[in-house]
Amino acid sequence: MTDVEVTPDGSPVPIYLAIPAERDFAPVLDDLYPGASVLDLGCGVGRLANELARRGHEVVGVDESAEMLAHLAPGVEGVQARIEQLDLGRRFSAVVLASHLVNTADRDERRALLLAVARHLAPGGSAYLEHWNPAAIDDLRDGEGTAGEVTLRFRLLEQRGASFDAAITYVLGEREWTQHFTAEVLDEDGLDASLAQAGLERFGRLDEKWLLATH
Ligand SMILES: C[S@@+](CC[C@H](N)C(=O)[O-])C[C@H]1O[C@@H](n2cnc3c(N)ncnc32)[C@H](O)[C@@H]1O
Repeated sequence: MTDVEVTPDGSPVPIYLAIPAERDFAPVLDDLYPGASVLDLGCGVGRLANELARRGHEVVGVDESAEMLAHLAPGVEGVQARIEQLDLGRRFSAVVLASHLVNTADRDERRALLLAVARHLAPGGSAYLEHWNPAAIDDLRDGEGTAGEVTLRFRLLEQRGASFDAAITYVLGEREWTQHFTAEVLDEDGLDASLAQAGLERFGRLDEKWLLATH
């Protein structure tokens, strides 16, 4: 395994090329109106962004990893940047913040991520935020699942109230990678407070993991 296969946050590029997009992104794809411009923050290899471009959306994908961005389809504008510092000087009808980044445990970092969402969201636009559902905190336990050809093993390492440390091991063929992360599961008030700190307001939920917010 070479280093460039894994992003600074520990996401393995080959895994994100192998995990099908449909299950994770169908609610967002179904909700977007035709022609909406979309900013995909932390776009990875473009599981969502590439499909959006295929459907004719104007789409910009942002990621700190050049190795991830290398897989974006020609119709996607890729930007290599940290989300927190991003200032494209333009606004989009939709901004997507996936990968539970809204559950970033560090409050200042979480606020910086949400401010980037707000900075790029057009008035009346929709932000799509993938989050750990507040109900999930009671259900956290070790487990295993599959996504396409990938086997995922979740291990809960430590829980401190609403925050937890976990490891996900991804198995693809003969190879495996383990990604560690810390998350804070926000209850409804915590979500609203975090959004408010960035000038955002929740206005709905697509399903148990996708929240909708606007200015
Ligand atoms: C778990 S992967 C998921 C990628 C994509 N959203 C998907 O679902 O296929 C998370 C991605 O977000 C990127 N990322 C995480 N934090 C970031 C940050 N603060 N700024 C830019 N990119 C970030 C990583 O490099 C990685 O490609």
